[in-house]
Amino acid sequence: MSISRKIKAAGAQASMIRKMFEEGAILKKKYGADKVFDFSLGNPNVEPPEAFKKELLNVAGQIIPGKHGYMSNAGYQETRQAIAEKINKTSGLNLNGEHIIMSCGAGGALNVILKSLLDPQDEVIVPKPFFMEYTSYIDNFGGVIKRVDTHPDFSLDVAAIVKAINDKTKAVLINSPNNPTGKVYSEKNIADLARLLTEKGKEMNKAIYLISDEPYSEIVYDNITVPSILKAYRNSIIAYSYSKTLSLPGERIGYIAVNPEIEESSDLLNALILCTRILGYVNAPALMQRVVARLQDVKVDVAVYKRKRDLLCDGLAKAGYKFERPLGAFYLFPVSPIPDDVEFVKMLLKRNILVVPGSAFSSPGYFRIAYCVDDATIINSMDGFAEAIKECR
Ligand SMILES: Cc1ncc(COP(=O)(O)O)c(C=O)c1O
Repeated sequence: MSISRKIKAAGAQASMIRKMFEEGAILKKKYGADKVFDFSLGNPNVEPPEAFKKELLNVAGQIIPGKHGYMSNAGYQETRQAIAEKINKTSGLNLNGEHIIMSCGAGGALNVILKSLLDPQDEVIVPKPFFMEYTSYIDNFGGVIKRVDTHPDFSLDVAAIVKAINDKTKAVLINSPNNPTGKVYSEKNIADLARLLTEKGKEMNKAIYLISDEPYSEIVYDNITVPSILKAYRNSIIAYSYSKTLSLPGERIGYIAVNPEIEESSDLLNALILCTRILGYVNAPALMQRVVARLQDVKVDVAVYKRKRDLLCDGLAKAGYKFERPLGAFYLFPVSPIPDDVEFVKMLLKRNILVVPGSAFSSPGYFRIAYCVDDATIINSMDGFAEAIKECR
């Protein structure tokens, strides 16, 4: 076998979700899709908004010379400007198109940011639990992930983050609303983090970057808003995606937004543009850039996800499960009724319920339910969830 040893090991690590996916396929074949309750993947089941479909047809019909050609690696100026204006409207900041680099989703954005920032052995602090691909994204560029605990309600433990900072620290990577917990960090939590990162940066005479992964920033419930990272902290960079807000994960469209006040701004922006090219993305998909330009105020119907959250939380609470009620994204991260989360996931599997063990997100003792599924899947799974917890008593 001649594939990279590192990639072979990463493949083995990633096997938990893949295994769930494969188990699901077998179960669906055996029992029928409606008898299998698949909560394993964060693939939005809500259709893109009508405004997206209309704009896609509109753009497809336009005759524009060079429409399918290469462009500036950063993306179309018109799209970047529209995004900057949207961010300014909600944050009161003063970005322009130069502070936006179009990307292939949030995954592409994070890889470009990390390649731009990291030298080998540089450390990136990541609060647990976290989206499991971060480990590979950081490793892609020779970086080292430093996992830190969060508080029991999954809010940031700012003291733990500061304690983890050393000479090798390059960045802190956060994600709110969070996958897998649905946690949205409060304004105070972010302000505390920003204050301490500023102090620490001054003390160490270097920039500690705050990378904020925000593909779910517009999927929030109960009238809350996601605090602006750019407003809170000077050395901040956002990775955004339309995968979830417009239900377009297959189209690979998102962007990087850089704080206008960031240290060595023009070097960083040039590096991000260069890395977009040399990672082989070259630029974000041209057609999608034109489509999203005029959809800055459009998003999927969040009320649909809120209904699913309520159905799931009410049902599981009644069955005796313990969890933090999520304020955003479409994930629930309940406490496993037995300490061995992998074992509990197997108990659910026996009832044709597919979820992912918390170990896959560096937090054993929990499990993740992705509730971007039909209401019927949630409703019809409740007996199985109730039976499984009863078996643990
Ligand atoms: C926290 C988080 N970050 C990044 C991504 C990658 O998203 P994209 O499709 O925009 O690359 C996901 C996808 O599920 C995610 O949950």
